[in-house]
Amino acid sequence: MKRTHNAADIDINTVDTEVVLNGWVDTRRDHGGLIFIDLRDRSGIIQVVFSPEVDMNSFHLAEQVRGEFVVAVRGKVSLRPPETENPNLKTGKVEVYVREMEVLNSAKTPPFYIENDIDVDENLRLKYRYLDLRRPEMKDNLMLRHRIIKIMRDFLDKRGFLEVETPILTKSTPEGARDYLVPSRVHPGEFFALPQSPQIFKQMLMVAGMEKYFQVARCFRDEDLRADRQPEFTQLDMEMSFIDEEDIFELIEKMMVDIFREIGREIKTPFPRITYDEAMAKYGSDSPDLRFNLEIVDLTNIVRDCDFKVFASATKSGGVVRAINAKTCGSFTRRKIDELGAIAVGNGAKGMAWIVVTESELRSPITKFFSEEKMQEILDALDAQPGDLLLFAADTADTVSRVLGVLRMELAKRLNLIDEDTLNFTWVIDFPLLEYDDEEKRYVAVHHPFTSPRVEDLELLDSDPSRVKARAYDLVLNGTEIGGGSIRIHRRDWQEKMFSLLGLTMEDAREKFGFMLDAFEYGTPPHGGIAFGIDRLIMIMAKRQSIRDVIAFPKTQSAACPMTDAPSGVSGKQLRELAIKIRDK
Ligand code: AMO
Ligand code: AMP
Repeated sequence: MKRTHNAADIDINTVDTEVVLNGWVDTRRDHGGLIFIDLRDRSGIIQVVFSPEVDMNSFHLAEQVRGEFVVAVRGKVSLRPPETENPNLKTGKVEVYVREMEVLNSAKTPPFYIENDIDVDENLRLKYRYLDLRRPEMKDNLMLRHRIIKIMRDFLDKRGFLEVETPILTKSTPEGARDYLVPSRVHPGEFFALPQSPQIFKQMLMVAGMEKYFQVARCFRDEDLRADRQPEFTQLDMEMSFIDEEDIFELIEKMMVDIFREIGREIKTPFPRITYDEAMAKYGSDSPDLRFNLEIVDLTNIVRDCDFKVFASATKSGGVVRAINAKTCGSFTRRKIDELGAIAVGNGAKGMAWIVVTESELRSPITKFFSEEKMQEILDALDAQPGDLLLFAADTADTVSRVLGVLRMELAKRLNLIDEDTLNFTWVIDFPLLEYDDEEKRYVAVHHPFTSPRVEDLELLDSDPSRVKARAYDLVLNGTEIGGGSIRIHRRDWQEKMFSLLGLTMEDAREKFGFMLDAFEYGTPPHGGIAFGIDRLIMIMAKRQSIRDVIAFPKTQSAACPMTDAPSGVSGKQLRELAIKIRDK
């Protein structure tokens, strides 16, 4: 019984046609004289009906089938009696009266319901991922992902981009995470690294004259996992020659318009741009969520010489004092304020000073340290009104940004300030090129070591590297970094200079990136690019909270796969072949 129709294709236009359907038993209802089965296939669900008057054999078979049995049915499409129509189903106006049924396979009872919105431990869902993916919402996520990637490919193909695959077994590419290593049997004691991104290869493709490259590329990073971080994830990776930032912004904005049109959303371009410095100061994050305001206000200059030791000493040692006006939160109980304080401390703050503004007074542990005029200056700077709650942080600029950035998001959640239907795109630009790593006692690249400094900052490279800005940019959507890239260094001398700023000796640089430095001597065009986290983008489009929901077979938070039980031990023989000995765990 070969299928003639998909379930979802059956509607009032197919009434009276004979159809053959293949699929799974979603639900079965036995009404004595009649048996109803909701038949599910990838396209959707249709009700099929078994009646002894139509066919006794299939009626008896229908008595025996259970959920998730695989069946083939042949029957005629009929209109449902009006009072039995199901407005929740696309096929709800019709049903199929079955004349013949074949059971293609039986099924055990699944460990959870095959339906949307189930409340089940995610590990169980991942262990039985093949059942989880039968659930309509999960299937829809994969279908959306497919359609969006197709739009990306079509969009770039139309504009002359070539999709080129780059190696998975390769040398480490520094994107800031730990590498996944693969031991070489042929070269005992030597290892491949899985690519953290195709970064170096796409630059080599520019040297090779490909001019416009893209790839739907798998990337591997051994880092701490979160809802929007997986150890292997997929990028839409792109690189172009003879372009500058504006070309990239324009191209990507056009692509986003096409992508979001697919889900019926018209987005406005050009996207606004914000500098890294402004994002950090006002929103406490380099991927600011701009769907709501709650701006951070700098008070450093106002409190510089105040009597409150905490503020005065922070400013004296080069730090900052900043605050957020949590509008209308003056009614928070002491317990709620202390909860916010605990969040601040959990993110590295030494404390969280606060002021509750009421009609008649200021309630606060710190007002006593300020003169009336100073206090008025602070209140004015924060536009404080009765009913407001003011939260303060004093520390290094980095710590204050982090702490107030987290508090800002927490307040937005508690105050319900985020409109989930908004799409807020923002370019973040003018990133610093380098940041000082206190642990490693050296500069590290904020983006990656191949990012070009801004030409006007070249002189600072020697005198004050931390002030050099990069030609780097991120695209942020609703507070999530969905993409990032840069204009690259394309000259050997600049690249060598960059490596030396990063503390690499000439030998190190040559050992790790010699081929790249060499390539730069054979006519390397100016070039730049960007990469998008496809998983993150689809997660937002599908309104999910985790990228695991838009990846067919993701890893758990602890980087394992409950379905296959990977990672797992290997035999002594395999280890010997690789010349590897496992130390005591
Ligand atoms: P970057 O490291 O910023 O840039 O990565 C680009 C985008 O990939 C996504 N992303 C991730 N998604 C899921 N899980 C992860 N662990 C993860 N890490 C990153 C983010 C991010 O914006 N080679 C450069 C790009 C370039 O310079 O052209 C790069 O990989 O959405
Ligand atoms: P103290 O005088 O130490 O009791 O601090 C008075 C208030 O300042 C308390 O509410 C502390 O939480 C707060 N506080 C302490 N350190 C900081 C800091 N670095 N930034 C902001 N507030 C702080």
